[in-house]
Amino acid sequence: MDKLNWTKKSQGIWSAVVGKADDYNPFSAIDVKPVMDSLEAMEEKQFPFNIDSIITEQVGNKTIACFPLDKDEKIFGLGLQFIRLNHRGRTRYLRVNSDPIMDIGETHAPVPFYVSSKGYGVLVNTSRIVTIYCGSSGRKLKMPSGTLKDRNQDRDWQATPPSDLVEIVTNSDGFELIVFAGDNALDVVQRYNLYCGGGTLPPRWGLGFWHRVPTSFTDEQAIAEAEEFRKRNMPCDVIGLEPGWHTKSYPSTYEWSSRFPDPAEFVGKMKDMGFQINLWEHPYVSPESKIHAKLEPYSGSHTVWGGLAPDYSIKEAQDILKDQHEKDHISIGVSGYKLDECDGSELTGSSWMFPGHAQFPSGHDGEQVRQLYGLTIQKMILDIFRKYNRRTYGLVRASSAGASSLPFALYSDLYDHRQFVRGLCNSGFSGLLWSPEIRSAANPEEWVRRLQVVCFSPLAMLNAWASGTKPWSFPEVEPIIQKYINLRMRLMPYFYSAFARYHFDGTPPFRAMALEISQIKDDVHYANMDKDDQYMAGDSLLVAPLFSGQASRDVFLPKGVWYDFETGDRFDSGKVIQVTAGLEKMPIFVKEGAVIPMMPVMQCAPKAGETVPLEILHFGNVSGSFNLFDDDGETFAYENGVYRWRTLKVDVTDNKRSGSISAVDPDWKSAYGDITWKFIGMVHN
Ligand code: GAL
Repeated sequence: MDKLNWTKKSQGIWSAVVGKADDYNPFSAIDVKPVMDSLEAMEEKQFPFNIDSIITEQVGNKTIACFPLDKDEKIFGLGLQFIRLNHRGRTRYLRVNSDPIMDIGETHAPVPFYVSSKGYGVLVNTSRIVTIYCGSSGRKLKMPSGTLKDRNQDRDWQATPPSDLVEIVTNSDGFELIVFAGDNALDVVQRYNLYCGGGTLPPRWGLGFWHRVPTSFTDEQAIAEAEEFRKRNMPCDVIGLEPGWHTKSYPSTYEWSSRFPDPAEFVGKMKDMGFQINLWEHPYVSPESKIHAKLEPYSGSHTVWGGLAPDYSIKEAQDILKDQHEKDHISIGVSGYKLDECDGSELTGSSWMFPGHAQFPSGHDGEQVRQLYGLTIQKMILDIFRKYNRRTYGLVRASSAGASSLPFALYSDLYDHRQFVRGLCNSGFSGLLWSPEIRSAANPEEWVRRLQVVCFSPLAMLNAWASGTKPWSFPEVEPIIQKYINLRMRLMPYFYSAFARYHFDGTPPFRAMALEISQIKDDVHYANMDKDDQYMAGDSLLVAPLFSGQASRDVFLPKGVWYDFETGDRFDSGKVIQVTAGLEKMPIFVKEGAVIPMMPVMQCAPKAGETVPLEILHFGNVSGSFNLFDDDGETFAYENGVYRWRTLKVDVTDNKRSGSISAVDPDWKSAYGDITWKFIGMVHN
């Protein structure tokens, strides 16, 4: 095939079309608008490949693109992957799947974007299933020299042949490729997120604690559960309703059942108590729904559980659902949704999704609609909240490329704790947020270990839809649970500012060590890029969870000096250390010089216009600073410049520390009031 024609999109970003571009793609489906100002301000970069080394082919109905791969290169990303972090040597079949139990690449959010340890990324912009051979295919005559081995004679023979290629394959006429360059993997991910519209900024309440009540709860039961949280001083911002708030759930009517005789009064009462209401739903429309007849002409050839599968790539279909949701839910104060079942299972697990050959009125087939269903529905919901100038934050079970700016966290019915932590590491490579929700536990230890991780994640939630558990379900460990939910609340200004950074410069608020250490080029750090059981929460906290049954673990502390967040003990770094911690503690390490803003424990997030005092922690012996984001925390006004960055600074000179906060214009109504400083881990010479 002819050489690709690469067009520069912005600093360090190029695009080229292989074959014929797929007009229905993640970017077109949700109208992604790159943040050009921020991208243009970034450093200019060289195209990361020798252009001649990129091979493309069209064979039968397949389109293929091959990129070179170095011997030691690692391949990260590819969406929400539960089973591994580094995909080198693996073939990834990037199909959306609700039941991703096999190590083949299928997942709730299969993003065809990979990030290399060498500091570049490649995105395939298509609605089609993409297969990526991450150094797992050997082209004829391309065997790297000296690597020919015989299984019978060489003990280090491997089933996967040594390969110096990444091969990208679709069963389609072609696709757009977008290449991102950067100084390191984090720089590449930042560019990707900015190209996808910048990271999402949730409302402040979204970063509080969430609780989902059991299926078929009534309004009174939900209110009683909410009151119990307040009685026990257990912070909680969001109550989620599960199936049963609808007249019919599977398929869905989206209409309030008689369990909620006065929805507006219910939502209002909860609001007065400081709770947001989040509604569970899925896309398949019940014949009993008032919008069924209207949506019928805009839906696919196949049904799911007897409900319509609307074609939301059509504006008229979107408008019908938006209208109904606006009137029945959002105008009365509902704050967001849990968008379930938009991933689907076919071939693996129990099959219930419309098939890949389903036909939709837009002309797209079932494969395309399904690959982008979650993405499309997230955007549709966000649009309604934008109309009300209210931010939303919710949950979704499927997503794809281009999702960085969408205010939804992914979740799963799988429940392996280690995989949940790996999900926290992996999601950050692909502009995704992941909620490692807690549902139930075999014993108090597991309950605590899971909840500790939940409190250091993008969306901290107890999903009691089936278990009926509460934070206090294991009374013997309730004080520990309380400690972590309190800590989540206290860290709200820190996490909220980390999300603001995600929005403005694309740095993922929760991310793998590979992104943290990608700029440190030595063998030890390179080897530890694969770590998938510890992660960064914001810029300064390194979280090293313990799992049920574990009393101690290995932690890799990157170069620099680190402190124990609770005791202030100082640690040597640039190596793997062993830590031991009782149940009451999840090991968290803080970078030297870190400045961490904390607010008092509140039962729910501060409202717009409310002022909270701050206690600011500083760790160690070097000066440091923190960019504190200051806005109303609820509306989209920040998109029009109605925000301030406040610089929190700690100067260390001659063993003395002094803290300061940058001033703001006199008529600025700050979200922050009195400030106190706490200096931890001082070493006196
Ligand atoms: C599942 C979902 C659960 C719960 C349940 C209700 O699909 O993952 O979190 O909402 O549906 O039926």
